[in-house]
Amino acid sequence: MKKVVKKTMLIILLSIGSLIILTFASLLLISGVFEKQEYLEPWEKDYALQFEDPRIQLAAHGLLAGNGHNMQPWMIKLDKENPMVFYLYSDSNRMTGEVDPFSRQMMVTQGAFLEYVKIAGNYLGYPASVELFPQGVFDETDLIKSMQSTPVAKVTLTKASPQQDPLYDYLFMPDTNRSPYKPEQLTMEQVSELEAVSKNTGIIVKIFQDSSNIAKLKTYIMDSVTIEANTDRVMEETEVIFRSNEFKKNQYRYGFSVEGQGTSGIMRHIIQGLVTLFPSMNSGEAATTNFIKSTQTSVDNTAAYAMIFTKDNSRISQVESGMIYSNLVLTAHKLGVVMQPLSQPLEEYPEMNLPYTSIHKDYAMDGSTIQMLLRLGQPTKDVPLSMRQDVMEIIE
Ligand SMILES: Cc1cc2nc3c(=O)[nH]c(=O)nc-3n(C[C@H](O)[C@H](O)[C@H](O)COP(=O)(O)O)c2cc1C
Repeated sequence: MKKVVKKTMLIILLSIGSLIILTFASLLLISGVFEKQEYLEPWEKDYALQFEDPRIQLAAHGLLAGNGHNMQPWMIKLDKENPMVFYLYSDSNRMTGEVDPFSRQMMVTQGAFLEYVKIAGNYLGYPASVELFPQGVFDETDLIKSMQSTPVAKVTLTKASPQQDPLYDYLFMPDTNRSPYKPEQLTMEQVSELEAVSKNTGIIVKIFQDSSNIAKLKTYIMDSVTIEANTDRVMEETEVIFRSNEFKKNQYRYGFSVEGQGTSGIMRHIIQGLVTLFPSMNSGEAATTNFIKSTQTSVDNTAAYAMIFTKDNSRISQVESGMIYSNLVLTAHKLGVVMQPLSQPLEEYPEMNLPYTSIHKDYAMDGSTIQMLLRLGQPTKDVPLSMRQDVMEIIE
């Protein structure tokens, strides 16, 4: 009798074990465990060098820059007459009109790209001079059409001997770290070096790490994230650009993925498998709860914030602030400091009116505009790289 019970128990255990292994294997397959991560190729250091044209080499560096919603809204037109000139356009097909109704973040993103191009240009021996809006600024009454015909920048390369740029190596690191940060404040030297990145530009970078500002900014961020998390059309805009598995990530190569929350290794496949099978895990109420919870963890583990201010809110100032933002992130990397933009209180859709107005009243002097709000600090963990398109996708 005992023998029969033992045998039955063994069969049950083996069945449960097999079921677990089968479920696990199925999740890995659904996630695309055997897919090559083509969407990470642009991060390889020799990726840009496969192209002969220096303009494409520099664009391949530009697309590693941080950018709103990882939409990578850049379009390059190579000058047919002059092999040392290209034009940067913002790609109106990649707008995120709900969260960024005036395309301000999209312009900051253009600047982030241009700064990467400049740093790569110096390093590769093709210094790049950047002229913003060489044909005049957009016609705001017909923004989409105007974006298609009006370049954000004319970039002219010259030939020079390559320069060692202390920031070059950091182009290949993720710009955004959403993990908790250590409780230590930045040193005064770090603060000075970071605030100095905008020296002589008319743009101001300011770091806040006293307890009163930390508490105040935490409230602004949590209030505005709660508003955003409960604004369905904004959340839905984000949901549709979520790439749930390796197949989708290779197909689109822009937008969000589970890596954005710091998930890597085998957990990446398990979560991707689950989210592919059950999309509701990452939409609707679940997305609202996750967004609020993860931001709470972030702000509870932040000892410093930074803001980038411009004296006006012109298109040129928006792009220039993006250049400063890239410089700030790269300088931070050099100092062992990481960052995460937290844009919600700065967003311009109607529901965000109150936080937007209050934070500007509290922090932006003389009618200036806060172009970026960031948390920064020492990381508690490294985060994975995010998707990037093939550079030829952005060359017209
Ligand atoms: C203008 C701008 C606004 C951004 N806003 C946010 C934000 O509110 N929250 C966030 O977590 N990341 C934000 N980011 C970071 C992007 O999501 C990130 O750069 C993009 O997903 C690519 O990832 P990477 O920076 O790690 O390469 C922003 C970036 C830019 C340039």
